[in-house]
Amino acid sequence: MKLLWGAAAALLPICVSFADVTGSEQQPLPVSDSPDPEHDRLSDVIAASPLLSLHRAICEVESVSDDEVAVGKLVISILEAHNFTVKTLSVPSPGATNTTKERVDIYAYPDLSKYGGDGQITSSETIPKPKVLLSSHIDTVPPHIPYSLSLPKRKGSGSSSASRKDILISGRGTVDDKACVAVQIQTVLDFLADPAALGTDSVINPSDLALLFVVGEENRGDGMRAFSTSDLYSNSNANYKAILFGEPTEGKLATGHKGIFMVSIKAYGKAAHSGYPWLGRSANSMILPALNVLDKLGDVPEEEGGLPRSEKYGKSTVNVGLMYGGVAGNVVPEFARADVTFRLAGGTAEQVQKVVTDAIRAVDPDELLELNFSQGYGPVPLDADVEGFDTITVNYGTDVPNIEVAEGVKKYLYGPGSILVAHGKNEGLTVGELEDALEGYKRLVKHSLES
Ligand SMILES: *[C@@H]1O[C@H](CO)[C@@H](O)[C@H](O)[C@H]1NC(C)=O
Ligand SMILES: *[C@@H]1O[C@H](CO)[C@@H](O)[C@H](O)[C@H]1NC(C)=O
Ligand SMILES: *[C@@H]1O[C@H](CO)[C@@H](O)[C@H](O)[C@H]1NC(C)=O
Repeated sequence: MKLLWGAAAALLPICVSFADVTGSEQQPLPVSDSPDPEHDRLSDVIAASPLLSLHRAICEVESVSDDEVAVGKLVISILEAHNFTVKTLSVPSPGATNTTKERVDIYAYPDLSKYGGDGQITSSETIPKPKVLLSSHIDTVPPHIPYSLSLPKRKGSGSSSASRKDILISGRGTVDDKACVAVQIQTVLDFLADPAALGTDSVINPSDLALLFVVGEENRGDGMRAFSTSDLYSNSNANYKAILFGEPTEGKLATGHKGIFMVSIKAYGKAAHSGYPWLGRSANSMILPALNVLDKLGDVPEEEGGLPRSEKYGKSTVNVGLMYGGVAGNVVPEFARADVTFRLAGGTAEQVQKVVTDAIRAVDPDELLELNFSQGYGPVPLDADVEGFDTITVNYGTDVPNIEVAEGVKKYLYGPGSILVAHGKNEGLTVGELEDALEGYKRLVKHSLES
């Protein structure tokens, strides 16, 4: 049983079993049993900040994709405690038989009867039409890694010279994407607390802002697609000026991200004794030439049948991510399969499907290999017309293509922390990065409302 530190966590009825990690070095120890002054000091810093304690509470709940129920309940309870109206949208897990494990997207807006709507109080049946939607995802990649605090190690000296802003917050989801969940909630709370925060000549209206936290971003994007096709979305999106998508962009504004495309290749051979291979047909031997060609396809010039390139994103890249075939070393393999993912620097999914098909068929003229292409998409352009931000392009996919957005609505992608650690064992970010992102989000909201 893990002790929950901090005021926010203590106020919330959550109870998480961490029996599996008992004994890990990162485990905070009960104060009474084993005093750890440094941990207590760091923990106090977190507890003293609404943003940091909100972030900690959310990160302490495990939420690997398809297992987002507990964190969803926590986020809903936090939002309701702050007088948000919360609407949930059920997103079924494929193959799930236990319907009590209901995964939900969370859509929330300030309860206008509590916050005052400047003459815009809507009846309980209608929902407000916000101008800015702030969205991020509550699922993470596996495995869960417990939340922990540390000070960066300095060569030769202790860690005492580090400042508050240098405190490193580590654990699964601390960057991707619970940093954005916490920062987006705090952004809206801060605007609600000070409706004049936009400046002297304009006042923010509580009905201008809404929050969306989706499930399933890390595997299928089913959470965002469910929202995109829901009545909730079609009934509320008429006044959108901008959607702010939260993903780790190192505190920079993304000008776009690469596209993605996948192919699954299957080879059906004929089993035989390995001493008499001519009596069979090796599925592994059938698939290898295709993999060899695909593996290098990012380096082949486009005019020679290679993958698209662009000035903005550079080369498309290839990952032969999964391959298997055969049953034993002394049996000619009957079946082989490989899954390959392409990160696209240009072109459309249709164009890349042709490039990939042509490359494979050049070494498989009899079309013996079975190809199954996933739905993919080309590079996704994003808006970056806000002054004062450094810009970046990123190579990962996001939920941006999973939502149908009307012409003219700005799409911003922004968040603290680096994608380079986001799915790793060392996922983490500093207090300074998290707090800077709160200021960044406020500037993006301001810009969106004033434009
Ligand atoms: C929520 O609204 C109630 C009034 O209905 C108020 O007493 C309470 O302080 C509000 N809570 C927050 C966190 O704003
Ligand atoms: C379904 O899940 C709930 C919550 O995890 C659990 O309490 C219940 O026993 C499960 N039911 C079945 C039939 O597995
Ligand atoms: C292609 O892949 C999809 C997704 O994995 C799967 O549902 C479908 O059955 C596959 N089709 C074929 C012909 O294998």
